[in-house]
Amino acid sequence: MGRPIAVLAVCGTRPEAIKMAPVVRALRADPAFTVRLVATGQHREMLDQMLRLFDLTPDVDLNIMTPHQTLTELTLRLLQGLDRVLRETPATVVLAQGDTTTTFAAALTAFYHQIPFGHVEAGLRTYDNYQPFPEEMNRRLIAPIAAYHFAPTEIARQNLLREGIPAERIWVTGNTGIDAVQWVAAQPFEIDNPALQRVLQHSGRVLLLTVHRRENWGEPIAAVASALRELLEQFEDLLLLAPMHCNPRVRQSLAPILGSHPRAVLTEPLDYASFVQAMRRADLILTDSGGVQEEAPAFGKPILVLRETTERPEGVAAGVAKLVGTDRTRVVQEVARLLTDPHRYMQMARAVNPYGDGRAAERIRDILRHSIGAGESGAVPMLATGTP
Ligand code: UD1
Ligand code: UDP
Repeated sequence: MGRPIAVLAVCGTRPEAIKMAPVVRALRADPAFTVRLVATGQHREMLDQMLRLFDLTPDVDLNIMTPHQTLTELTLRLLQGLDRVLRETPATVVLAQGDTTTTFAAALTAFYHQIPFGHVEAGLRTYDNYQPFPEEMNRRLIAPIAAYHFAPTEIARQNLLREGIPAERIWVTGNTGIDAVQWVAAQPFEIDNPALQRVLQHSGRVLLLTVHRRENWGEPIAAVASALRELLEQFEDLLLLAPMHCNPRVRQSLAPILGSHPRAVLTEPLDYASFVQAMRRADLILTDSGGVQEEAPAFGKPILVLRETTERPEGVAAGVAKLVGTDRTRVVQEVARLLTDPHRYMQMARAVNPYGDGRAAERIRDILRHSIGAGESGAVPMLATGTP
């Protein structure tokens, strides 16, 4: 065997930790690789919570989060920090996941250092620059930089082909988030979170809510909160569980409207194992999260997506997710319909797995071992400019 392949894996936010954990663990278990994990700290509490769960200690922590960070400040700090890391420790390949500003900065820094970039969860698109913002632009800008496109689904692969990414640079691996959710669901689990305890003891129906997208800050989140307050009054058996994102912009719209309701459980973000139990217990999930749209179908839970568009059309096509936006009246109507029409509910409450089979990380490991191990590292094209 030749020298191990030096991987620099980067993550910064909660979903990146969750979705990179299976990849980092798979690569670390293989002697063909050495892996350095860089936490940018774009998130602090929510990132640490996930790294702890997966027993991952970053080799480098850039610790860049500031309260109310703007996109420009965030990008500047990320580029400077990642540049320093790559100057100090060269790598054969840089890996990052998804569409956050950490991911975009990791791709751009890798490009400046002429190191191939591997994009985990490549090819998701809405083709609307501002929805989701800034994620749609982040992932589109990453595509021409990436040397390895690990697409979760065939639809994602088709998006990349349409943009001129060569077919031989795209691999359909499934989403590593499904690896993560399967792993965590199989771990022994103690219910010590009081909010989760209350939900699990509740005998009526449970609605699980997560919201955080920038385009929903302010009025849209407040409208969803008002809709839920009305629904709690209308359905007396209903309990709402809302683990709130740490962003103060999210909390300031949810808490004043829902905080005083006796059947609204507003909590700190749940650790991943508790959140998975909450998804399992929920009768219905309302979310604008990307990751939750991928996980909930595996548990057979209907999802109402609080957005106008989605880059995850597979759940909608399978009939288990529905785009409802954030209009108050519409949210009330859609939830009420599912709570009163058992036929409609059963149509949406089907377990399907359009996003992966739990083996995405293994595939990524094998692809990297074969391509780079075969001496391709220097020859990987840095810019995908050809047509398929
Ligand atoms: C970020 C990503 C988004 C991703 C989401 C997952 C960008 C621009 N946005 O959005 O794509 O879907 O994470 O959750 O990359 N904060 C804390 N503690 C934390 C996390 C956040 O206090 O652990 C607060 C801070 O005040 C921070 C603010 O939330 O400034 C916003 O964080 P930021 O990462 O900029 O954006 P998110 O909305 O979390
Ligand atoms: N999640 C969690 N605890 C919570 C809320 C969400 O563990 O209180 C998990 C969820 O299961 C999913 C991920 O966090 O895997 C989604 O993160 P988020 O919604 O912040 O980001 P997105 O996926 O929208 O980028």
